[in-house]
Amino acid sequence: MKDTVTILDNATGKSVELPIRRGTLGPPAIDIGALQRELGYVTYDPGFLATASCHSAITYIDGEQGVLLYRGYPIEQLAEKSNFLEVAHLLIYGELPSQAQLGEFTNIIRRHTMFNESLKSFYHGFHHDAHPMAIMVGVVGSLSAFYHDSTDIHNPHHRDIAAHRLIAKMPTIAAASYKHSIGEPFMYPRNNLNYCGNLLHMMFSVPAEDYQVDPLAEKALDLIFILHADHEQNASTSTVRLAGSSSADPFACISAGIASLWGPAHGGANEEVLHMLAEIGDSKNIPKYIARAKDKNDSFRLMGFGHRVYKNHDPRARLIRAMCHEVLNKLGNQNNPLFELALKLEEVALQDEYFIERKLYPNVDFYSGIIYKALGIPTNMFTVMFAIARTVGWVAQWMEMIADPNQRIGRPRQVYDGATRRDYAGIKDR
Ligand code: SDX
Repeated sequence: MKDTVTILDNATGKSVELPIRRGTLGPPAIDIGALQRELGYVTYDPGFLATASCHSAITYIDGEQGVLLYRGYPIEQLAEKSNFLEVAHLLIYGELPSQAQLGEFTNIIRRHTMFNESLKSFYHGFHHDAHPMAIMVGVVGSLSAFYHDSTDIHNPHHRDIAAHRLIAKMPTIAAASYKHSIGEPFMYPRNNLNYCGNLLHMMFSVPAEDYQVDPLAEKALDLIFILHADHEQNASTSTVRLAGSSSADPFACISAGIASLWGPAHGGANEEVLHMLAEIGDSKNIPKYIARAKDKNDSFRLMGFGHRVYKNHDPRARLIRAMCHEVLNKLGNQNNPLFELALKLEEVALQDEYFIERKLYPNVDFYSGIIYKALGIPTNMFTVMFAIARTVGWVAQWMEMIADPNQRIGRPRQVYDGATRRDYAGIKDR
């Protein structure tokens, strides 16, 4: 039997046979290239609910089963047994590193954690109340002005250097955006600290005294970063791919990804969840907010709920919820009111027909902010944390795209609803 589908145009009786593309997992795809050539049609799929933009071997999600695999490894196993830089190596190079490879990769990242001193002057152009994500978009994009030794994106070695610099410098740039917002001096990275410990040091230490990284905070951040590292062709990753498809500078492409992630419908949701929980305030108000979330005339949505792909529990949310318990208990904050309220909100929502029918479950953003807050990270830095972790996925997907010999510039089509041809009318005749 042929692995094709036939499309019949009932208006003309003409038909076209379209080949099926099958991956190793997930739904097969209809290759629609011939549709325009043979029948003159383009396809329409706003939001890309049923459109594959590429082949990829990096991450796989089964939304119905609540499964997330990084290069075939279940997220639950990586969360339990791995660490963020090992997962970064896995996502970028496709395999878990040997001890020697991990040591080499860790050292390379460590040696790129400082940024050019002249970059500091960029921060002084921002007011102290600038949102750190606005600073990240600007400063990360400006890295494209610094590195003229690795501008050939078709040179694998140049791609590697750009990826290493981005992964290494994101925590330093992020911590500096936080320090700028509180008027404290920037702290240099320390090569005797691990990736997440360095971030905590650069955010919370001051020159006036010694700072000890809290191992629990470091472990919690490392787990959260593993869970946020990559997630197929989400909005910000698709932004990086589309920007990169024109062979644009990788630093500029990652800056575009940061801009997309900032949106409250995407990575900005973790910050909005805390605002929402603060607004709800008390579990007695939950019914009112559930009703608002269901009201089509009310723009309010339950932030941290729902997902384009997951129609079952987001496995990351479950792992973060468990880490919430551990962090809050060890910080002596067992009865954290925000966490109690979040648990109650989840319980009530998941018993409501509206959420059940639409398969709206808590997503990765629902609980992450509670841990961040417990670690002393301010709300306006939550999406910055997400961006640090997702930089690994963005660079892995960008490298996969650029290395693809069949890669072409992305250029979607449209269904035009505008005016048909008409002649210019002089201002006297309008
Ligand atoms: C992330 O793509 C990824 O992988 C993203 C991410 C990643 O790792 O990169 O997982 C990270 O962005 C998680 C999502 C964070 N965003 C939020 O928590 C914001 C709140 N959620 C929604 O805005 C929404 O659920 C989206 C944006 C996440 C998904 O939007 P979709 O797939 O376009 O779904 P939809 O808006 O069409 O909703 C389907 C229905 C609608 O009702 P009906 O028109 O069918 O009657 O569900 C309703 C929506 O109104 N709905 C919600 C809701 N989410 C969807 N109703 C109330 N509250 C919500 N949160």
